[in-house]
Amino acid sequence: MLSAPTEVATVLQLPSISDLVAVARPTAAALGAELLVAGTGPAVRTPILGVDLGSIAPTVTLDAAVEAATDAFRGWRSVPAPVRGALVRRLGELLREHKSELAAIVSLETGKIRSEGLGEVQEMIDICEFAVGLSRQLYGLTIASERPDHRLAENWLPLGPVGVISAFNFPVAVWSWNAALAVVCGNPVIWKPSEKAVLSAAATTALARRAAREVGAPDGLFTLVTGGPDVASAMADHRALALVSATGSTAMGAALAPRIAARFGRALLELGGNNAAVIAPSADIDLVVRGVTFAAAGTAGQRCTTLRRLIVHRSRRDEVLERLVRAYSSLPIGNPLDSGTLVGPVIDTASGGRVLAAIEVAAAEGGELLAGGVEVAAPGAPDACYLQPAIVAVPGQSEIVRTETFGPLLYCLTYDDLEEAIALNNGVPQGLASSIFTTDLRDAERFCGPAGSDCGITNVNIGPSGAEIGGAFGGEKATGGGRESGSDAWKTYMRRATATVNYGNDLPLAQGVSFG
Ligand code: UN1
Repeated sequence: MLSAPTEVATVLQLPSISDLVAVARPTAAALGAELLVAGTGPAVRTPILGVDLGSIAPTVTLDAAVEAATDAFRGWRSVPAPVRGALVRRLGELLREHKSELAAIVSLETGKIRSEGLGEVQEMIDICEFAVGLSRQLYGLTIASERPDHRLAENWLPLGPVGVISAFNFPVAVWSWNAALAVVCGNPVIWKPSEKAVLSAAATTALARRAAREVGAPDGLFTLVTGGPDVASAMADHRALALVSATGSTAMGAALAPRIAARFGRALLELGGNNAAVIAPSADIDLVVRGVTFAAAGTAGQRCTTLRRLIVHRSRRDEVLERLVRAYSSLPIGNPLDSGTLVGPVIDTASGGRVLAAIEVAAAEGGELLAGGVEVAAPGAPDACYLQPAIVAVPGQSEIVRTETFGPLLYCLTYDDLEEAIALNNGVPQGLASSIFTTDLRDAERFCGPAGSDCGITNVNIGPSGAEIGGAFGGEKATGGGRESGSDAWKTYMRRATATVNYGNDLPLAQGVSFG
Protein backbone atom coordinates (compact mmCIF):
# COMPACT_ATOMS: atom_id res chain seq x y z
CA MET A 1 0.00 0.00 0.00
CA LEU A 2 1.20 3.51 -0.73
CA SER A 3 1.39 6.04 2.05
CA ALA A 4 -0.77 9.13 1.91
CA PRO A 5 0.87 12.56 1.49
CA THR A 6 2.79 13.45 4.62
CA GLU A 7 2.72 16.77 6.39
CA VAL A 8 6.24 18.04 6.98
CA ALA A 9 7.61 21.22 8.61
CA THR A 10 5.13 23.89 7.65
CA VAL A 11 6.71 27.12 8.84
CA LEU A 12 10.08 28.33 7.63
CA GLN A 13 12.65 30.45 9.42
CA LEU A 14 13.97 32.85 6.80
CA PRO A 15 16.75 35.44 6.94
CA SER A 16 16.02 39.19 6.89
CA ILE A 17 16.49 41.46 3.88
CA SER A 18 19.55 43.00 5.48
CA ASP A 19 21.05 39.54 6.01
CA LEU A 20 20.72 38.93 2.27
CA VAL A 21 22.03 42.35 1.26
CA ALA A 22 24.98 41.55 3.52
CA VAL A 23 25.58 38.39 1.49
CA ALA A 24 25.36 40.26 -1.81
CA ARG A 25 27.32 43.43 -1.04
CA PRO A 26 30.73 42.23 0.07
CA THR A 27 30.68 39.29 -2.32
CA ALA A 28 29.89 41.55 -5.26
CA ALA A 29 32.65 43.92 -4.13
CA ALA A 30 35.12 41.02 -3.94
CA LEU A 31 34.34 40.27 -7.57
CA GLY A 32 35.81 43.56 -8.68
CA ALA A 33 33.33 46.34 -8.06
CA GLU A 34 30.38 47.33 -5.94
CA LEU A 35 27.76 45.79 -8.18
CA LEU A 36 24.68 45.93 -5.97
CA VAL A 37 23.63 49.57 -5.86
CA ALA A 38 20.55 51.55 -4.96
CA GLY A 39 19.35 53.03 -8.22
CA THR A 40 17.16 52.73 -11.21
CA GLY A 41 19.14 50.06 -13.06
CA PRO A 42 17.86 46.50 -13.57
CA ALA A 43 16.46 45.16 -10.30
CA VAL A 44 18.22 42.47 -8.27
CA ARG A 45 15.67 40.12 -6.81
CA THR A 46 15.96 37.19 -4.46
CA PRO A 47 13.44 34.36 -4.39
CA ILE A 48 14.58 33.56 -0.83
CA LEU A 49 12.33 36.39 0.36
CA GLY A 50 10.67 37.34 -2.92
CA VAL A 51 11.94 40.91 -2.66
CA ASP A 52 14.23 43.33 -4.50
CA LEU A 53 17.60 43.87 -2.86
CA GLY A 54 18.69 46.83 -5.03
CA SER A 55 19.82 47.04 -8.60
CA ILE A 56 22.85 46.85 -10.84
CA ALA A 57 24.09 49.87 -12.77
CA PRO A 58 22.38 50.31 -16.13
CA THR A 59 24.16 48.35 -18.87
CA VAL A 60 25.04 49.50 -22.40
CA THR A 61 22.53 49.33 -25.24
CA LEU A 62 22.55 46.41 -27.64
CA ASP A 63 23.82 48.65 -30.45
CA ALA A 64 26.72 49.87 -28.31
CA ALA A 65 27.55 46.28 -27.33
CA VAL A 66 27.45 45.16 -30.96
CA GLU A 67 29.72 48.02 -31.98
CA ALA A 68 32.25 47.12 -29.28
CA ALA A 69 32.06 43.43 -30.17
CA THR A 70 32.44 44.06 -33.89
CA ASP A 71 35.47 46.19 -33.20
CA ALA A 72 36.99 43.57 -30.89
CA PHE A 73 36.37 40.83 -33.47
CA ARG A 74 38.53 42.56 -36.09
CA GLY A 75 41.68 41.98 -34.04
CA TRP A 76 40.71 38.94 -31.98
CA ARG A 77 40.01 36.68 -34.97
CA SER A 78 43.68 36.89 -35.99
CA VAL A 79 45.13 36.24 -32.53
CA PRO A 80 46.43 32.64 -32.52
CA ALA A 81 43.94 30.35 -30.84
CA PRO A 82 46.35 29.13 -28.11
CA VAL A 83 46.95 32.79 -27.20
CA ARG A 84 43.18 33.28 -27.06
CA GLY A 85 43.18 30.30 -24.72
CA ALA A 86 45.29 32.26 -22.24
CA LEU A 87 42.34 34.61 -21.68
CA VAL A 88 40.07 31.71 -20.82
CA ARG A 89 42.76 30.24 -18.59
CA ARG A 90 42.85 33.53 -16.63
CA LEU A 91 39.06 33.60 -16.44
CA GLY A 92 39.12 30.06 -15.03
CA GLU A 93 41.70 31.11 -12.42
CA LEU A 94 39.59 34.09 -11.34
CA LEU A 95 36.50 31.90 -11.10
CA ARG A 96 38.43 29.44 -8.93
CA GLU A 97 39.62 32.28 -6.71
CA HIS A 98 36.12 33.76 -6.34
CA LYS A 99 34.13 30.53 -6.49
CA SER A 100 32.53 30.94 -3.10
CA GLU A 101 31.50 34.59 -3.62
CA LEU A 102 30.03 34.04 -7.07
CA ALA A 103 28.23 30.90 -5.89
CA ALA A 104 26.67 32.88 -3.02
CA ILE A 105 25.26 35.38 -5.50
CA VAL A 106 23.92 32.54 -7.65
CA SER A 107 22.17 31.08 -4.59
CA LEU A 108 20.83 34.47 -3.63
CA GLU A 109 19.33 35.11 -7.06
CA THR A 110 18.14 31.64 -8.00
CA GLY A 111 17.39 30.08 -4.62
CA LYS A 112 19.83 27.22 -5.30
CA ILE A 113 21.28 25.53 -2.25
CA ARG A 114 24.90 26.41 -1.53
CA SER A 115 26.27 23.13 -2.82
CA GLU A 116 24.48 23.58 -6.14
CA GLY A 117 25.60 27.20 -6.40
CA LEU A 118 29.18 26.04 -5.90
CA GLY A 119 28.58 23.26 -8.43
CA GLU A 120 27.42 25.81 -10.97
CA VAL A 121 30.62 27.83 -10.62
CA GLN A 122 32.64 24.60 -10.76
CA GLU A 123 30.92 23.89 -14.07
CA MET A 124 32.25 27.26 -15.30
CA ILE A 125 35.77 26.40 -14.14
CA ASP A 126 35.52 23.03 -15.86
CA ILE A 127 34.47 24.50 -19.20
CA CYS A 128 37.28 27.06 -19.00
CA GLU A 129 39.78 24.23 -18.57
CA PHE A 130 38.18 22.35 -21.44
CA ALA A 131 38.35 25.45 -23.64
CA VAL A 132 42.01 26.10 -22.83
CA GLY A 133 42.85 22.60 -24.09
CA LEU A 134 40.55 23.12 -27.03
CA SER A 135 42.45 26.27 -28.00
CA ARG A 136 45.22 23.93 -29.22
CA GLN A 137 42.86 21.46 -30.87
CA LEU A 138 40.74 23.44 -33.31
CA TYR A 139 41.67 21.16 -36.13
CA GLY A 140 40.08 20.31 -39.43
CA LEU A 141 40.52 17.50 -41.90
CA THR A 142 42.89 17.09 -44.79
CA ILE A 143 40.99 15.24 -47.50
CA ALA A 144 42.42 13.23 -50.41
CA SER A 145 41.98 15.27 -53.58
CA GLU A 146 41.03 13.54 -56.85
CA ARG A 147 43.38 15.87 -58.72
CA PRO A 148 47.18 15.61 -58.93
CA ASP A 149 49.16 18.23 -57.00
CA HIS A 150 46.10 19.42 -55.14
CA ARG A 151 45.46 19.56 -51.45
CA LEU A 152 41.96 19.67 -50.02
CA ALA A 153 41.59 20.94 -46.45
CA GLU A 154 39.02 22.22 -44.03
CA ASN A 155 39.89 25.43 -42.24
CA TRP A 156 37.90 26.32 -39.13
CA LEU A 157 37.70 30.09 -38.81
CA PRO A 158 36.19 32.53 -36.31
CA LEU A 159 32.51 33.16 -36.93
CA GLY A 160 31.80 36.64 -35.58
CA PRO A 161 30.10 38.17 -32.52
CA VAL A 162 27.97 35.68 -30.61
CA GLY A 163 24.81 36.64 -28.72
CA VAL A 164 24.03 34.59 -25.62
CA ILE A 165 20.56 34.64 -24.08
CA SER A 166 20.50 32.76 -20.77
CA ALA A 167 17.83 31.61 -18.34
CA PHE A 168 17.52 32.21 -14.60
CA ASN A 169 18.09 28.61 -13.53
CA PHE A 170 21.71 28.27 -14.63
CA PRO A 171 22.38 31.98 -14.71
CA VAL A 172 26.15 31.82 -15.22
CA ALA A 173 27.20 28.26 -16.19
CA VAL A 174 25.32 28.29 -19.49
CA TRP A 175 26.92 31.63 -20.40
CA SER A 176 30.32 30.11 -19.67
CA TRP A 177 29.66 27.07 -21.88
CA ASN A 178 29.09 29.50 -24.72
CA ALA A 179 31.58 32.20 -23.81
CA ALA A 180 34.60 29.97 -23.11
CA LEU A 181 34.16 28.21 -26.45
CA ALA A 182 33.26 31.35 -28.40
CA VAL A 183 36.30 33.24 -27.19
CA VAL A 184 38.86 30.52 -27.97
CA CYS A 185 37.17 30.17 -31.35
CA GLY A 186 37.88 33.88 -31.93
CA ASN A 187 34.49 35.45 -31.24
CA PRO A 188 33.33 38.23 -28.87
CA VAL A 189 30.27 37.51 -26.73
CA ILE A 190 27.27 39.73 -26.00
CA TRP A 191 25.24 38.41 -23.09
CA LYS A 192 21.62 39.04 -22.25
CA PRO A 193 21.00 37.26 -18.94
CA SER A 194 17.62 36.48 -17.46
CA GLU A 195 16.01 39.54 -15.88
CA LYS A 196 15.82 37.39 -12.75
CA ALA A 197 19.58 36.96 -12.42
CA VAL A 198 21.31 40.19 -13.39
CA LEU A 199 23.64 40.40 -10.39
CA SER A 200 25.21 37.00 -11.14
CA ALA A 201 25.68 38.15 -14.72
CA ALA A 202 27.18 41.51 -13.72
CA ALA A 203 29.58 39.80 -11.31
CA THR A 204 30.63 37.26 -13.95
CA THR A 205 31.09 39.97 -16.55
CA ALA A 206 33.26 41.94 -14.11
CA LEU A 207 35.50 38.88 -13.75
CA ALA A 208 35.59 38.22 -17.50
CA ARG A 209 36.49 41.82 -18.31
CA ARG A 210 39.16 41.78 -15.63
CA ALA A 211 40.63 38.63 -17.19
CA ALA A 212 40.61 40.36 -20.59
CA ARG A 213 42.36 43.45 -19.19
CA GLU A 214 44.98 41.36 -17.46
CA VAL A 215 45.96 39.44 -20.59
CA GLY A 216 45.71 42.48 -22.89
CA ALA A 217 42.65 41.24 -24.79
CA PRO A 218 40.17 43.74 -26.24
CA ASP A 219 37.56 45.22 -23.96
CA GLY A 220 34.68 44.49 -26.30
CA LEU A 221 35.05 40.70 -26.01
CA PHE A 222 32.63 40.52 -23.10
CA THR A 223 29.61 42.80 -22.94
CA LEU A 224 26.44 42.65 -20.94
CA VAL A 225 23.06 43.94 -22.06
CA THR A 226 19.90 43.71 -20.01
CA GLY A 227 16.22 43.63 -20.79
CA GLY A 228 13.38 41.29 -21.64
CA PRO A 229 11.93 39.72 -24.77
CA ASP A 230 12.37 42.95 -26.78
CA VAL A 231 16.13 42.80 -26.38
CA ALA A 232 16.14 39.07 -27.16
CA SER A 233 14.19 39.78 -30.38
CA ALA A 234 16.57 42.58 -31.30
CA MET A 235 19.46 40.14 -30.87
CA ALA A 236 17.68 37.59 -33.05
CA ASP A 237 17.26 40.25 -35.75
CA HIS A 238 20.74 41.75 -35.52
CA ARG A 239 22.76 40.89 -38.62
CA ALA A 240 26.03 41.51 -36.81
CA LEU A 241 25.39 38.57 -34.48
CA ALA A 242 26.66 35.58 -36.43
CA LEU A 243 25.30 33.16 -33.85
CA VAL A 244 22.55 33.55 -31.28
CA SER A 245 22.67 30.93 -28.55
CA ALA A 246 19.45 30.94 -26.54
CA THR A 247 18.46 28.92 -23.49
CA GLY A 248 14.92 29.05 -22.17
CA SER A 249 11.42 27.90 -22.91
CA THR A 250 10.29 26.28 -26.14
CA ALA A 251 7.95 29.26 -26.64
CA MET A 252 10.90 31.64 -26.44
CA GLY A 253 12.86 29.54 -28.96
CA ALA A 254 9.88 29.33 -31.29
CA ALA A 255 9.63 33.13 -31.25
CA LEU A 256 13.33 33.73 -31.88
CA ALA A 257 14.30 30.93 -34.30
CA PRO A 258 12.33 32.15 -37.36
CA ARG A 259 13.73 35.67 -36.90
CA ILE A 260 17.30 34.36 -36.83
CA ALA A 261 16.58 32.12 -39.82
CA ALA A 262 15.03 35.01 -41.77
CA ARG A 263 18.43 36.72 -41.87
CA PHE A 264 20.29 33.40 -42.33
CA GLY A 265 21.91 33.74 -38.93
CA ARG A 266 22.97 30.70 -36.96
CA ALA A 267 20.91 29.63 -33.94
CA LEU A 268 21.90 27.35 -31.08
CA LEU A 269 18.79 26.52 -29.09
CA GLU A 270 18.55 24.78 -25.75
CA LEU A 271 14.85 24.84 -24.93
CA GLY A 272 12.33 22.95 -22.84
CA GLY A 273 12.80 19.44 -21.54
CA ASN A 274 10.33 16.88 -20.26
CA ASN A 275 12.80 14.37 -19.00
CA ALA A 276 11.98 10.82 -18.00
CA ALA A 277 13.56 7.96 -16.09
CA VAL A 278 12.57 4.39 -16.86
CA ILE A 279 12.75 2.07 -13.85
CA ALA A 280 13.25 -1.43 -15.27
CA PRO A 281 12.43 -4.68 -13.43
CA SER A 282 16.11 -5.25 -12.55
CA ALA A 283 16.76 -1.69 -11.25
CA ASP A 284 18.87 -1.23 -8.11
CA ILE A 285 16.34 0.41 -5.79
CA ASP A 286 18.91 2.31 -3.72
CA LEU A 287 20.29 3.98 -6.83
CA VAL A 288 16.75 4.74 -7.98
CA VAL A 289 15.74 6.47 -4.73
CA ARG A 290 18.86 8.62 -4.57
CA GLY A 291 19.01 9.33 -8.29
CA VAL A 292 15.34 10.16 -8.67
CA THR A 293 15.13 12.33 -5.56
CA PHE A 294 18.10 14.45 -6.66
CA ALA A 295 16.94 14.65 -10.28
CA ALA A 296 13.30 15.52 -9.49
CA ALA A 297 13.44 17.54 -6.26
CA GLY A 298 16.97 18.97 -6.45
CA THR A 299 17.27 22.60 -7.63
CA ALA A 300 13.58 22.76 -6.63
CA GLY A 301 12.84 21.05 -9.95
CA GLN A 302 14.19 23.97 -11.94
CA ARG A 303 16.85 22.43 -14.15
CA CYS A 304 16.09 22.03 -17.81
CA THR A 305 17.24 18.46 -17.17
CA THR A 306 15.03 17.94 -14.10
CA LEU A 307 13.30 14.57 -13.96
CA ARG A 308 9.62 15.18 -14.65
CA ARG A 309 8.31 11.73 -15.58
CA LEU A 310 9.03 8.47 -13.81
CA ILE A 311 8.15 5.44 -15.95
CA VAL A 312 8.14 2.44 -13.61
CA HIS A 313 7.75 -1.22 -14.46
CA ARG A 314 4.51 -2.48 -12.93
CA SER A 315 6.38 -5.12 -10.89
CA ARG A 316 8.39 -2.42 -9.06
CA ARG A 317 5.80 0.35 -8.82
CA ASP A 318 4.65 0.08 -5.22
CA GLU A 319 8.12 -0.50 -3.82
CA VAL A 320 9.63 2.41 -5.77
CA LEU A 321 6.86 4.83 -4.89
CA GLU A 322 6.84 3.86 -1.23
CA ARG A 323 10.59 4.47 -0.94
CA LEU A 324 10.36 7.73 -2.86
CA VAL A 325 7.45 9.06 -0.80
CA ARG A 326 9.46 8.29 2.33
CA ALA A 327 12.55 10.05 0.95
CA TYR A 328 10.46 13.07 -0.06
CA SER A 329 8.93 13.36 3.41
CA SER A 330 12.35 14.00 4.93
CA LEU A 331 13.63 16.57 2.43
CA PRO A 332 14.71 19.72 4.31
CA ILE A 333 13.01 22.70 2.65
CA GLY A 334 13.99 26.28 3.44
CA ASN A 335 16.64 28.97 3.21
CA PRO A 336 19.05 27.70 0.54
CA LEU A 337 21.94 29.47 2.27
CA ASP A 338 21.56 27.19 5.33
CA SER A 339 23.83 24.18 5.12
CA GLY A 340 21.14 21.57 5.94
CA THR A 341 18.66 22.67 3.27
CA LEU A 342 18.15 20.50 0.20
CA VAL A 343 15.19 22.27 -1.41
CA GLY A 344 15.06 26.06 -1.70
CA PRO A 345 12.33 28.28 -3.08
CA VAL A 346 11.03 28.26 -6.63
CA ILE A 347 11.89 31.37 -8.56
CA ASP A 348 8.64 33.25 -7.91
CA THR A 349 5.02 32.85 -6.88
CA ALA A 350 3.84 32.68 -10.50
CA SER A 351 6.06 29.69 -11.06
CA GLY A 352 4.84 28.04 -7.85
CA GLY A 353 1.25 28.70 -8.97
CA ARG A 354 1.90 26.87 -12.23
CA VAL A 355 3.09 23.81 -10.31
CA LEU A 356 0.01 23.78 -8.08
CA ALA A 357 -2.27 24.30 -11.09
CA ALA A 358 -0.62 21.40 -12.94
CA ILE A 359 -1.24 19.13 -9.94
CA GLU A 360 -4.92 20.06 -10.10
CA VAL A 361 -5.09 19.29 -13.81
CA ALA A 362 -3.34 15.96 -13.20
CA ALA A 363 -5.88 15.13 -10.48
CA ALA A 364 -8.72 16.00 -12.85
CA GLU A 365 -7.17 13.60 -15.38
CA GLY A 366 -7.29 10.78 -12.85
CA GLY A 367 -3.97 11.41 -11.10
CA GLU A 368 -3.31 10.73 -7.43
CA LEU A 369 -1.15 13.04 -5.33
CA LEU A 370 1.26 10.83 -3.38
CA ALA A 371 3.66 13.36 -1.87
CA GLY A 372 4.04 17.11 -1.33
CA GLY A 373 2.35 19.52 -3.67
CA VAL A 374 1.61 22.09 -0.99
CA GLU A 375 3.15 25.44 -0.26
CA VAL A 376 5.21 25.78 2.90
CA ALA A 377 4.35 28.88 4.92
CA ALA A 378 7.07 31.52 4.82
CA PRO A 379 6.05 34.14 7.37
CA GLY A 380 7.05 37.67 6.41
CA ALA A 381 7.80 36.63 2.82
CA PRO A 382 4.45 36.63 1.01
CA ASP A 383 6.13 36.94 -2.38
CA ALA A 384 8.44 33.98 -1.89
CA CYS A 385 7.28 30.47 -2.75
CA TYR A 386 8.50 27.30 -1.10
CA LEU A 387 6.91 24.06 -2.25
CA GLN A 388 7.01 20.55 -0.90
CA PRO A 389 8.19 18.57 -3.94
CA ALA A 390 5.30 16.60 -5.37
CA ILE A 391 4.82 13.11 -6.76
CA VAL A 392 1.63 12.45 -8.71
CA ALA A 393 0.75 9.01 -10.08
CA VAL A 394 -1.03 9.50 -13.41
CA PRO A 395 -2.72 7.22 -15.93
CA GLY A 396 -0.86 6.59 -19.20
CA GLN A 397 -3.21 8.77 -21.26
CA SER A 398 -2.71 11.85 -19.06
CA GLU A 399 -2.22 14.97 -21.21
CA ILE A 400 -0.64 17.26 -18.61
CA VAL A 401 2.52 15.12 -18.54
CA ARG A 402 3.28 16.31 -22.07
CA THR A 403 3.82 19.85 -20.79
CA GLU A 404 6.98 21.01 -19.01
CA THR A 405 6.04 22.54 -15.66
CA PHE A 406 9.19 24.15 -14.32
CA GLY A 407 9.18 23.12 -10.67
CA PRO A 408 9.35 20.20 -8.23
CA LEU A 409 6.62 18.04 -9.73
CA LEU A 410 7.22 14.41 -10.66
CA TYR A 411 4.62 12.40 -12.57
CA CYS A 412 4.67 8.65 -12.27
CA LEU A 413 3.51 6.34 -15.08
CA THR A 414 3.53 2.54 -15.22
CA TYR A 415 4.65 0.20 -18.03
CA ASP A 416 4.69 -3.50 -18.81
CA ASP A 417 7.38 -3.95 -21.47
CA LEU A 418 10.39 -1.94 -22.51
CA GLU A 419 8.95 -0.92 -25.87
CA GLU A 420 6.02 0.67 -24.09
CA ALA A 421 8.40 2.48 -21.73
CA ILE A 422 10.41 3.82 -24.66
CA ALA A 423 7.20 4.92 -26.39
CA LEU A 424 6.17 6.81 -23.24
CA ASN A 425 9.64 8.33 -22.92
CA ASN A 426 9.47 9.53 -26.53
CA GLY A 427 5.79 10.44 -26.54
CA VAL A 428 6.25 14.11 -25.64
CA PRO A 429 7.17 17.11 -27.77
CA GLN A 430 10.49 17.73 -25.98
CA GLY A 431 13.68 15.68 -26.35
CA LEU A 432 16.34 16.82 -23.92
CA ALA A 433 17.33 14.21 -21.34
CA SER A 434 16.33 10.67 -20.42
CA SER A 435 17.58 7.79 -18.34
CA ILE A 436 17.03 4.17 -17.48
CA PHE A 437 17.74 2.37 -14.21
CA THR A 438 18.51 -1.26 -14.97
CA THR A 439 21.12 -3.92 -14.30
CA ASP A 440 20.20 -5.69 -17.53
CA LEU A 441 22.67 -4.84 -20.29
CA ARG A 442 20.10 -5.46 -23.00
CA ASP A 443 17.61 -2.95 -21.54
CA ALA A 444 20.36 -0.37 -21.22
CA GLU A 445 21.68 -0.78 -24.76
CA ARG A 446 18.20 -0.85 -26.27
CA PHE A 447 17.33 2.36 -24.46
CA CYS A 448 20.47 4.09 -25.76
CA GLY A 449 20.25 2.57 -29.26
CA PRO A 450 18.55 3.55 -32.53
CA ALA A 451 15.08 2.34 -31.48
CA GLY A 452 15.47 3.71 -27.97
CA SER A 453 15.19 7.12 -26.38
CA ASP A 454 14.93 9.99 -28.88
CA CYS A 455 16.61 12.48 -26.53
CA GLY A 456 19.96 14.26 -26.74
CA ILE A 457 20.99 12.72 -23.42
CA THR A 458 20.47 9.00 -22.63
CA ASN A 459 21.81 8.02 -19.20
CA VAL A 460 21.99 4.63 -17.50
CA ASN A 461 21.71 4.26 -13.72
CA ILE A 462 21.80 8.00 -13.09
CA GLY A 463 18.97 10.47 -13.45
CA PRO A 464 18.63 12.71 -16.51
CA SER A 465 20.22 15.77 -14.86
CA GLY A 466 23.70 16.71 -13.75
CA ALA A 467 25.62 16.36 -17.01
CA GLU A 468 29.38 16.86 -17.07
CA ILE A 469 30.81 19.50 -19.40
CA GLY A 470 32.84 17.00 -21.45
CA GLY A 471 29.87 15.79 -23.47
CA ALA A 472 27.81 17.80 -25.94
CA PHE A 473 24.74 19.14 -24.13
CA GLY A 474 21.34 19.65 -25.73
CA GLY A 475 18.35 17.85 -27.16
CA GLU A 476 16.09 17.13 -30.09
CA LYS A 477 12.54 18.03 -31.16
CA ALA A 478 11.06 20.96 -29.20
CA THR A 479 14.31 21.21 -27.23
CA GLY A 480 15.72 22.90 -30.31
CA GLY A 481 18.51 20.63 -31.58
CA GLY A 482 21.47 22.70 -30.33
CA ARG A 483 24.59 21.28 -28.69
CA GLU A 484 26.68 23.27 -26.25
CA SER A 485 29.63 22.61 -23.96
CA GLY A 486 31.96 19.66 -24.67
CA SER A 487 32.74 17.18 -27.45
CA ASP A 488 32.73 18.97 -30.82
CA ALA A 489 30.13 21.61 -29.86
CA TRP A 490 32.85 24.18 -30.63
CA LYS A 491 32.18 23.73 -34.34
CA THR A 492 28.97 25.77 -34.00
CA TYR A 493 31.10 28.76 -32.99
CA MET A 494 33.28 28.62 -36.12
CA ARG A 495 32.76 28.67 -39.83
CA ARG A 496 34.19 25.91 -41.97
CA ALA A 497 35.98 26.87 -45.16
CA THR A 498 36.91 24.10 -47.57
CA ALA A 499 40.16 25.08 -49.23
CA THR A 500 41.42 23.40 -52.43
CA VAL A 501 45.05 24.33 -53.04
CA ASN A 502 46.66 23.65 -56.41
CA TYR A 503 50.42 23.41 -56.06
CA GLY A 504 51.00 22.10 -59.59
CA ASN A 505 51.54 23.83 -62.94
CA ASP A 506 48.41 22.50 -64.58
CA LEU A 507 44.70 23.13 -64.06
CA PRO A 508 42.90 19.76 -63.99
CA LEU A 509 39.16 20.18 -63.35
CA ALA A 510 37.17 18.07 -60.94
CA GLN A 511 34.86 15.35 -62.23
CA GLY A 512 37.09 15.08 -65.33
CA VAL A 513 35.48 18.13 -66.94
CA SER A 514 37.41 19.54 -69.87
CA PHE A 515 36.95 23.16 -70.83
CA GLY A 516 38.70 24.53 -73.85
C1 UN1 B 1 20.10 23.85 -17.58
O1 UN1 B 1 19.27 23.54 -16.73
O2 UN1 B 1 19.85 24.73 -18.44
O3 UN1 B 1 22.98 18.76 -16.70
C2 UN1 B 1 21.47 23.29 -17.63
C3 UN1 B 1 22.67 19.55 -15.80
C4 UN1 B 1 23.53 20.78 -15.63
C5 UN1 B 1 23.18 21.82 -16.63
C6 UN1 B 1 21.72 22.15 -16.68
N1 UN1 B 1 24.91 20.40 -15.79
O4 UN1 B 1 21.73 19.36 -15.06
